[in-house]
Order: sequence, then C-alpha cells, then structure tokens
Amino acid sequence: MIINGEAMVTPAVLEAMAGTKDARLHEVTTALVRHLHAFIREVKPTEQEWEYGVEFLGRIGQANSAVHNEGVLFSDAVGVSTLVCLLNNGANGSTETAAALLGPFWRDNSPAVPDGGSIVRGPTPGPKLFATCQVLSGGAPVADARVDVWHSSPEGVYENQDPNMADMNLRGQFRTDAEGRFRFTSVKPAGYPVPTDGPTGDLLRAQGRHPFRPAHLHFLIHKPGLKTLITQVFVDDDEHLESDVVFGVTLALVGGYKKGEGPAPDGSEGEWWSLDYTFHMEPGDSRLPVPPIQ
Ligand code: BEZ
Ligand code: FE
Repeated sequence: MIINGEAMVTPAVLEAMAGTKDARLHEVTTALVRHLHAFIREVKPTEQEWEYGVEFLGRIGQANSAVHNEGVLFSDAVGVSTLVCLLNNGANGSTETAAALLGPFWRDNSPAVPDGGSIVRGPTPGPKLFATCQVLSGGAPVADARVDVWHSSPEGVYENQDPNMADMNLRGQFRTDAEGRFRFTSVKPAGYPVPTDGPTGDLLRAQGRHPFRPAHLHFLIHKPGLKTLITQVFVDDDEHLESDVVFGVTLALVGGYKKGEGPAPDGSEGEWWSLDYTFHMEPGDSRLPVPPIQ
C-alpha cells in the first residue's frame, strides 16, 4: 500500500508482516509493532529524541562483552526481567520457591565443590557464612540435583568485576545428597551497586535512582524432569530490600540468615552467620539459561 498519512503506517507494517510463517513469531512481532507504534503516538518524540533513543539501544549492544552483559542489566533495571520471571514461574500454586531474575553474572562453568566445602578461593575478608539447604519437590527430597551458587564479596563485587579476586571466587557447583541437602561455607555477601558505567547507569542517574541491590546469594537448581529453579535469597536486614534497583525481592525470598553466637562451626573466631533455606521445585522444563557472561 502507498502510505497516505501517519494513520496508515501501522496497518502497512502489519500487512507487510502477514506472511510470517512461524505463528509465534508473527504474534510476537505484530504485538511489538502495535505497542511500539502506540508508544510513539503517545510520546510523539521529536526527531532528535528518537535519534537519541536509537543511539541508546546501540550503546547497550556496544557495551556487551564476554565479561559484561548490558542487555541483561537494562532489562533488569526497567523491571522486564522480573516481569518475565514472575509470569513464567509460580503459576502452579504456592508450593514452589519463588523464582528471581538470573542477573548478568551467572557463569555456567563454576567448579564442582564437595558437599560442605568452601567457595572462597582466595583472600576474601569478611564474616564467614555457613549455609545448610535442602531441595524438595512435592515434599520429597530432590537427590542428585545440580546446584550453582554465586554471590558478591563482603565488599559488594563479583569476582569477574575485580581483577584482584581469584577466578571463580564465591562460585561453586554442588550436588544434592539423598535427602536433597547441600551445605557450603562462604563469606557473607554485601549489597552492591549494579554497574553504572554504561547506558543503563545513565538512565538510572537521569531518573534519580540509586543503583543498589540488597545483599543476596544466587542459586540455580537443575534436575531433569523439574523446572530449573533460578532464584536469590536476600539478607534479612539489608537497607535496600524495599528498593532493589532491579525489583528482584519477593517476600518469600527474604530470610533465614542468622548471626552466629560463640565459635563458628569450623571452630574459627570472629563474626559468623548461618543460613538455613529450603527450596521447593515444580515439575517442568529443566532447560538451562544462556549464560550472560563466560
Ligand atoms: C545480580 O544480582 O547479580 C544482578 C542482577 C541484576 C543486575 C545486576 C546484578
Ligand atoms: Fe547478584
């Protein structure tokens, strides 16, 4: 069709896309065009503003590298990752552990650690953490599940962000025992600012938002036949629980960290903490996500 006025643009584009063979791709792309055009009609960007918007998207792509995923970070900061997560998890009732966004820092190849082992691989000052966890499904133990654990240091950085930290520090892969249990030792994670040196940081500053995430541990639990559980468990008293910059905190995921009294379980002196947590998995798709970084 020859376009005669702005009102014809949307139908022209939808008509051009009508031959899309894959039904789902057709559904997704036509919805995208309809919503994008509605957004443009509502906002009426100037040409200069639209140039800026397109350049902003380009900068997100340019900021991606093997060790940094700005695309995931942007999706997280505008709440889309959490929305996708909550729309795809928890539909089967209230028995499963709430899922939380994967974030940009999961690596698929953390070293295997024996049950009860430490994931501290180099000097990492901070209070010790002793975690005792169990994985259940329908009330029964999930044995021999793969459990990836990763988290920030007590200074609030991930090992891939800090050249002084040992490779794979504060990352480990465990197997649940016959009772679905796994235990590990680490240091207590701290809250941290998400990376703000790219376009997502520019957006946060322009919106007057702080960049902090409350302290948490990440877990990815994988067992064929069960829906892969990707989640985070947040430290109870963190000042940013109610204002997580990426909207990852749900009530079910806060808690279980306790300050230890007396000597630590390994006999060491100094401040220590424990975490007790039970994860509940549901039947479903056991696919692993695409790693955001290598
Ligand atoms: C994280 O928890 O690792 C994370 C999530 C979203 C943005 C940045 C970091
Ligand atoms: Fe994190």
